[in-house]
This record gives sequence, C-alpha cells and structure tokens, in this order.
Amino acid sequence: MATLVMVCGSLRAASTNGALVRAAAEFARTHPAVDDVHIAPIHSLPLFDEDVEAAGDPIAVVRFRDLIARADAVVISTPEYNASIPGVLKNAIDWASRPYGASVLTGKRVAVMSASPSGYGARWAQDHLRAILAGGVGALLVNEEPVVFPRVDTLVDDHGVLFDDGALTRVQALITQAIAACAPERVPA
Ligand SMILES: Cc1cc2nc3c(=O)[nH]c(=O)nc-3n(C[C@H](O)[C@H](O)[C@H](O)COP(=O)(O)O)c2cc1C
Repeated sequence: MATLVMVCGSLRAASTNGALVRAAAEFARTHPAVDDVHIAPIHSLPLFDEDVEAAGDPIAVVRFRDLIARADAVVISTPEYNASIPGVLKNAIDWASRPYGASVLTGKRVAVMSASPSGYGARWAQDHLRAILAGGVGALLVNEEPVVFPRVDTLVDDHGVLFDDGALTRVQALITQAIAACAPERVPA
C-alpha cells in the first residue's frame, strides 16, 4: 500500500494548481493501492535561513519534512512565476533538502505537473523544477515526459474544481503512474 503526499506550488486560495492537486488527491483516495493521502501545506514554512536551522527546525518544517519522509511518492504541481518556479516552492524544497546528506527528497519518487493560463502550461517552471529535483536533490522523477496544463483557467470552475474530462484523465494517469512506481503489484501493467 502506498502513501502519497501532494504539494501545490501556489499559496493563493483560488490556485489552479491547487485544483489539480485536489483532483489528484481525490483520485488517489479512491485507489485500492493507496492507504494514505496528504496535501502538505507550505504556507507556514519560514524563509530558509541557516541561522534559523541552526537554532532548531521550526515546527512547520518538522511537520513538512515528516510528511515527505513518510511518502512513497510525492506529487507536485507548480505554476510559473517569471519563467521559473515560485519562490515559496523552492523554499519548501530547500527545507526538505536539509540537513545536508539527509534530505528526505533524495531517492524519493516525485511526480511533477504544471499549469498556467498561458499556452505553455508553465513548461519552463516545470523544466526548472525537474532539474532541481533530479539534479539538485537527487529525487527520482516518476514521469519522464512533462505533464503540462496550458490555459488552465478554462479547465477549473469558479469553485476551484477541475472539471475538464481530458485534464482529469491526464491527472489520473500521472497519479496511476506514481502509484505504479511504488506499488507495482497493485497496478496492472
Ligand atoms: C509574479 C508572477 C509572475 C508570473 N510569471 C508567469 C510566467 O512567467 N509564465 C506564466 O505562464 N505565467 C506567469 N504568471 C501567471 C501565473 O501563471 C498565474 O497567476 C497562475 O494562475 C498562477 O498559478 P495558480 O493559479 O496555481 O496560483 C505569473 C504570475 C505572477 C504572480
């Protein structure tokens, strides 16, 4: 059985990436190979500072890191800010990557998707995220091909629900891939 932890790279309440993450979590909770699903909050994480770290990890950091550590797979959806990932997401990854040599992200399976109202679906941000995860912290990317959601504002309704069938299918395919990566015996090939 698998534990999945989802992270949204946007803090805003009406986040479209949040809608993707909620749709992913909802699907994962129905999957017979999954026994635990969490959406890990990143809004309470302080700005990374080695002095703060040296004084003792803040409780929000401890909780965030514990969630990631317990996950068999992590799912991240990122928007794009100025052609890269939002600082809040990089900050969360930086905290999770510490202390040096004991990162909870090293060797962790991570499925990645991105969304933007533009026609590119935050592809540059996703490329940066993939480089940070695979090259920087040694995570194992679940999806070789980027999963992007262009024009995402047309896929999410006013209540923050991902309603587009094609988009839902693609989210579910990514989650199935993530589950298959950690519980292959429970997912038919
Ligand atoms: C500071 C800032 C920079 C942005 N830069 C980009 C960008 O480079 N490319 C892009 O497609 N969208 C950009 N956007 C628009 C975001 O994609 C848009 O706000 C998106 O809805 C954010 O994701 P969310 O709905 O999950 O919060 C930017 C938005 C902000 C606030």
